[in-house]
Amino acid sequence: MIDGKFITLGVTGGIAAYKAADLASKLAGRGATVHVVMTRSAGEFVRPLTFEALTGNPVHTDLFASSYQFRMPHIDLATRADILVVAPATANFLGKLAHGIADDLLTTAVLAATCPVLICPAMNVNMYANRAVRENVERLKGYGYNFVEPGEGRVACGHYGKGRLAETGDIISAVEDLLGARRDMKGLTVIVTAGGTREPIDPVRYISNRSSGKMGYALARAASSRGARVILISAPTSLEIPPGVEIVPVESAVEMHGEVMRRYPEAQVVIKAAAVADYRCERVAGRKIKKEGEGLTLELVRNPDILADLGRQKREGVTLVGFAAETHELEENARQKLARKNIDLLVANDVTMPGAGFGADTNIVKLFYAGGRTESLPVMEKLAVAHRILDAVMEIRQD
Ligand code: PMT
Repeated sequence: MIDGKFITLGVTGGIAAYKAADLASKLAGRGATVHVVMTRSAGEFVRPLTFEALTGNPVHTDLFASSYQFRMPHIDLATRADILVVAPATANFLGKLAHGIADDLLTTAVLAATCPVLICPAMNVNMYANRAVRENVERLKGYGYNFVEPGEGRVACGHYGKGRLAETGDIISAVEDLLGARRDMKGLTVIVTAGGTREPIDPVRYISNRSSGKMGYALARAASSRGARVILISAPTSLEIPPGVEIVPVESAVEMHGEVMRRYPEAQVVIKAAAVADYRCERVAGRKIKKEGEGLTLELVRNPDILADLGRQKREGVTLVGFAAETHELEENARQKLARKNIDLLVANDVTMPGAGFGADTNIVKLFYAGGRTESLPVMEKLAVAHRILDAVMEIRQD
């Protein structure tokens, strides 16, 4: 995947800049044309000559320097690249990019990039845990930037924790992934549902659940990166819409049911990660309910079961994936849902486990295939879980 590709490698000013030399060398060794862009601070740690010798190309450091190779280096280094990698990325770089500041060659090039951008942060443990840095990272993920998270261990300043630059091998794997090693979902239309539905009580109150939408949005992002056309039917969340994904906002289960059924004829894959309320208020008050008396009784009625309806209308060539959020008897409940809803794959998560379920960035899931096979996955980032679910979908479709 890397052979013949044009890779722009941004190096910012942290002690891990020396590791970028290994990365540059390995990328060039695999046949890529590597152009290194260094910030002024990076030059305090490693000399440009090192990268020139390793890549065989001049190193770019100055926004205003003329270049015999590029008419406008800050644009050409972005638009000619198949991928732009920033390793290491400092807190300062993340902060600038998250706020659209382009005051040097690297930040300008990254803002001008239309190719995938892979950011590999490395910094002091406390800096990486700092709320401002966390928010910048989340914001950048929301804008569609890809990350290889730092590793855990001892960082240069002697602290232990998360902050050291990811291993070169992990960065190269991420580069390969992004270079489209897997465009295996091209030509498929995938519906993903996400978030927790809101069932109104009156104009100011609703019944809902703890779903953040992270699992569903990760699935939408992963399917889109694998070439699928993705329709994300989402209950309210605070998440950024993944790039290239068509969003259909809904609030209640009845609205979600309507949109899913309306779009179903277009889809070959439907993945129902949303936490859909099973009940809604029989009557929604037109005006705010006032405090009167000691108690209040709400009459609830059953919502449509969207997944079961999809299962009933299942067409040849369609793959249906459901989730099961369980607090107990996961296996038994999962198998029952798989059979009752007539689906191909059920992804069960025990939402009481730390690192799993609602709101977390990670999940721990067990896959139940219609044929009876099961597969338990370890704790993983939700994006990685999403890719494993899509691998399973593609395997089912090939059978
Ligand atoms: O959003 P996050 O914070 O990232 O959390 C992720 C998650 C825990 C919400 C997700 O991993 C998950 O488990 N989603 C399904 C939650 C759920 O509603 O599970 P369930 O066991 O109640 O429903 C089973 C399946 O039927 C689900 O696919 C659900 O979308 C679907 N369903 C349920 C009820 C209903 N009326 N219609 C449905 O289609």
